[in-house]
Amino acid sequence: MQLSKIIHGCLYAAVAFSTVVIACPDYDELPFYKALNESNLSQDELMKRWYTVIASDGPSFNPTTWPDSTLPYCFEDDNSRTQLAHIIESAWNVWQASGVNYRIDMGEYNDCPDPVNGAVPRGAKYMLVRAQNNGKMVTTVGTQIYSSGMGALMRFDPSPAIGMRDPVANMVHEIGHAWGFFHEQQRPSFWKYGEYAEAKGDKNQIKFVCENMSDYDIVDGRLDGTIDDACHSYGKAKDLGFSALEFMPMPLPFSAQLDDGDYDWKSVMLYASPIGGAVRNGAPANVYTRASDGKVIAYNKTPSQRDVSRFNAMYSEKAPYPNPCLINQGCSPKKAVFMNAKAKCKNVGKD
Ligand SMILES: *[C@@H]1O[C@H](CO)[C@@H](O)[C@H](O)[C@H]1NC(C)=O
Ligand SMILES: *[C@@H]1O[C@H](CO)[C@@H](O)[C@H](O)[C@H]1NC(C)=O
Ligand SMILES: *[C@@H]1O[C@H](CO)[C@@H](O)[C@H](O)[C@H]1NC(C)=O
Repeated sequence: MQLSKIIHGCLYAAVAFSTVVIACPDYDELPFYKALNESNLSQDELMKRWYTVIASDGPSFNPTTWPDSTLPYCFEDDNSRTQLAHIIESAWNVWQASGVNYRIDMGEYNDCPDPVNGAVPRGAKYMLVRAQNNGKMVTTVGTQIYSSGMGALMRFDPSPAIGMRDPVANMVHEIGHAWGFFHEQQRPSFWKYGEYAEAKGDKNQIKFVCENMSDYDIVDGRLDGTIDDACHSYGKAKDLGFSALEFMPMPLPFSAQLDDGDYDWKSVMLYASPIGGAVRNGAPANVYTRASDGKVIAYNKTPSQRDVSRFNAMYSEKAPYPNPCLINQGCSPKKAVFMNAKAKCKNVGKD
């Protein structure tokens, strides 16, 4: 929304005042430009969805937003850096290109501790990034005060055969968690009260087919059809290590959300129909269809406008820029050009 105005202003200014090739990035090539440009959602509508940590500027024992709107990370070892550095940078560029404020930033921390036995330990001031190859991707939601030896952690498998079948898209989603987003489909109001444990909605937003989950055999024969079995309860699925837990309603005392309504089917934090599905004939089965119209929901590989809007609302602009705690910020020529252009565009947009 705002972005499209800003882009216009910027391109206009560039044409009017410049004789040299200009700093403005070619927004047409950025993945979200088209989507943003074509939108005419109001600000109210944009703010209608979210399920996130509660924003706080101070230290908190519950998961919250990162201080100074800055998410520093450290790679656990060289293998993790080699495998994941370019994926995490590309994925963050997707968020930025989608309209996340340029002062909100993530990057490699300039004070990562030395490895202990070959591995950088977890710590309270940064997110540790670990490459793995077990088909799983798990990321701490937001940050919080950690006990000693703990700290935010991203475990990421860069395989192109899992999740959305696209490592950068998977990383865009995981980065959403890292900054403080929970899954859209786990909002308690998304599910029908009395049919799923902890559900608060008056109907199910999706028709969930538990048997199509890839690890259904874990629970096969252990279901009683009640709201407390592993196909209906987050807690039970979690106890049994069954991946349906990623779908089940999850009420969190320390989260902020809107009560109901207007679910964002384009959110990068919403699981698509085939996520977690058993691979049959070379393709994952769908585990749900949309209840209202039977639609199969495709992978959302990039943040929706509402994702971005919520992101910007959750974080403030007061992060220092350039940020001394992130290495390379402004030092990578490509990034510097992009950031400068964004800063200029932003100012032009304000006029
Ligand atoms: C963006 O919107 C403007 C009109 O507001 C239009 O001229 C332009 O072609 C649009 N660009 C894209 C990529 O849709
Ligand atoms: C924009 O708004 C008009 C009128 O409010 C509506 O008819 C149209 O479908 C909207 N376009 C998009 C892309 O949402
Ligand atoms: C579950 O999987 C089967 C076979 O793979 C498929 O025919 C069916 O449509 C799937 N269910 C849903 C809700 O998509």
